[in-house]
Amino acid sequence: MSMIKHKKLPKWLPGDPSDKKLLHSMLRVDHAGEYGAVCIYRGQIDAVANSKHCKKIGARLRSMYNQELAHLAYFETLQTQLSFRPTVFLPIWKRIGYFLGYASCVYDYRLGMVVTEAIEFEIVEHYTKQINALKALQTDFINGADITAIANKIDLFRQDEKEHMQIGREYRIDNNIIHNCLFTIIAKLTKIAIKISKKY
Ligand SMILES: [Fe+2]
Ligand SMILES: [Fe+2]
Repeated sequence: MSMIKHKKLPKWLPGDPSDKKLLHSMLRVDHAGEYGAVCIYRGQIDAVANSKHCKKIGARLRSMYNQELAHLAYFETLQTQLSFRPTVFLPIWKRIGYFLGYASCVYDYRLGMVVTEAIEFEIVEHYTKQINALKALQTDFINGADITAIANKIDLFRQDEKEHMQIGREYRIDNNIIHNCLFTIIAKLTKIAIKISKKY
């Protein structure tokens, strides 16, 4: 019986031909996330429109919504350029996103802001990991796409998402069990949505 232990090879090696596949998977999940974000903020804006809360929170929501539109536009441009397929769950994210945004804001806009904080918390973490993964690629260009430029752009988006997270945090009441439970649930669901969108 051989005593030689075979080391497990890593699934992915730098410069591997699967770089393209990896990049497409990254962009697919980012595109899905930004698409979902646009739908969530749209739902939140509609929920507070014409309500007494509109003055308080409407302008902030619209400002974040406009930033999400710009993020989405960037990934849509890359989608045209690189022909990566969007997630098959896009129509579902559209409905869930809008419903989540609307439902969380319609009774108490502060609950909507807890949802915002939780989602953005996970997105900031996701973008941080992704920027590191892009920097670890041993290639500068994939199908004409400049990897450093993409990483820099995502870094800018990460700063926007961090600001959104901090805005959301302003409305979460410390030691409020409903706020804290909602934060935990939404953060977990966001993690799951990220995983699904990466794969499918
Ligand atoms: Fe975004
Ligand atoms: Fe955001």
